[in-house]
Amino acid sequence: MRTQVGIIGAGPAGLLLSRLLALQGIDSVVLENRSRDYVEARIRAGILEQHTVDTLTEAGVGDRLAREGLEHRGIYLQYPGTRHKLDFPELCGRTVWVYGQTEVTKDLIKAQLDGGPPLLFEVSDVRPEDVDTDSPRIRFTDADGNPQVLECDVVAGTDGFHGVSRPVVQQAAGGQVWERTYPYAWLGILADAAPATDELIYAWHPDGFALYSMRSTKVSRLYLQVDPSEKIEDWSDDRIWDNLATRFALEGWDLNTGPVTEKSILPMRSFVSAPMRRGRLFLAGDAAHIVPPTGAKGLNLAVADVTLLASALVRLLAEKQTDLVDSYSERALARVWRCTHFSWFMTSMLHRAGDDFDAQLQLSQLRRVVSSEAAARELAENYTGLPLDY
Ligand code: FAD
Ligand code: DHB
Repeated sequence: MRTQVGIIGAGPAGLLLSRLLALQGIDSVVLENRSRDYVEARIRAGILEQHTVDTLTEAGVGDRLAREGLEHRGIYLQYPGTRHKLDFPELCGRTVWVYGQTEVTKDLIKAQLDGGPPLLFEVSDVRPEDVDTDSPRIRFTDADGNPQVLECDVVAGTDGFHGVSRPVVQQAAGGQVWERTYPYAWLGILADAAPATDELIYAWHPDGFALYSMRSTKVSRLYLQVDPSEKIEDWSDDRIWDNLATRFALEGWDLNTGPVTEKSILPMRSFVSAPMRRGRLFLAGDAAHIVPPTGAKGLNLAVADVTLLASALVRLLAEKQTDLVDSYSERALARVWRCTHFSWFMTSMLHRAGDDFDAQLQLSQLRRVVSSEAAARELAENYTGLPLDY
């Protein structure tokens, strides 16, 4: 097999990259080690920045998003006794959209299988090779158990945090990683309950952070800060709803409960790996970096990376110019570090850890954001998304 760009991983990053390249006449093959059902059912992010919506729309996969996505014009920041709305259009002229990552993935897979470049599920033993030359290849075993070789001009490592691509980049001289593991986790649930709020609520509470999000007008997505050692089996639905009711409590307001359809505990980590390139192997999305979820940056960052990477690869492969691939890692990392800082800031401001001194600093910061237009605008600009080439 031969293609111009061999793409490892069919998450949002790999699928969108393949689509953006196809629209510019560059062919690719996407290799995914899980099944289509598994990839489409994986519940993850839910908030899309305006640039992500624009990119998906320009890529021709925005129809259902335009019909079913919910435009959100702000968020509430809450601490005991106060629930304050930050109005994004007023603060920075932009909005965000609620549309689940599951739906983004389904739309991209459908477009791909409907006449797009090849997408192979359930492959195994995927190995990028000879990435320091101009003719790298990917060895893998196909779903029928046959060994295969995909000869490429370029390999894109969009295989997420546990993929095989980042170690290959890091084996070269000059590789560096930065990491922070947070002393808390999120317990997330999906519930068949109409959201009892028009905008997302980010709540600081002495018992720990809580987030009220949604997937549609009938489905709520809720999160509770818990200790990373907690076991999901110890959290009955009643215990979860009781904790949510306590942390979101506000006079005259009630939570809507309903059947819980999914629940899990997610670790919280910041991680950045540099550079995002070795020779003809380029990393994008979670393969190169992870942010804690507070602030909803992970998926948007993956989309921003592949938007930069797609234009760099088109310039390399169609115009034989190396300038954009040469600057890709530096340009992508500038935005990665901005989002890493913002996600750390939101996480640190809202989660209970440390002592009462820390709590007073957090409350002071929250009061500052809700009372200063400059502080609120800084949060709003980062939340709704900074320019692509930051
Ligand atoms: P991924 O979505 O991880 O895709 C990588 C793909 O590569 C996967 O399909 C994987 O199966 C495949 N793969 C891995 N190894 C191989 C291999 N060796 N060969 C072939 N294929 C391989 N972000 C937010 O903004 N908000 C959230 O609420 C949020 N919640 C999250 C919850 C969880 C549990 C996780 C893990 C992440 C969450 N994120 C969230 C982050 C967000 O989902 C990611 O940033 C986003 O999925 C990144 O997309 P990606 O395509 O780079 O990576
Ligand atoms: C969601 C996740 C986030 O991390 C966030 O900040 C907002 C919303 C969500 O899953 O809906």
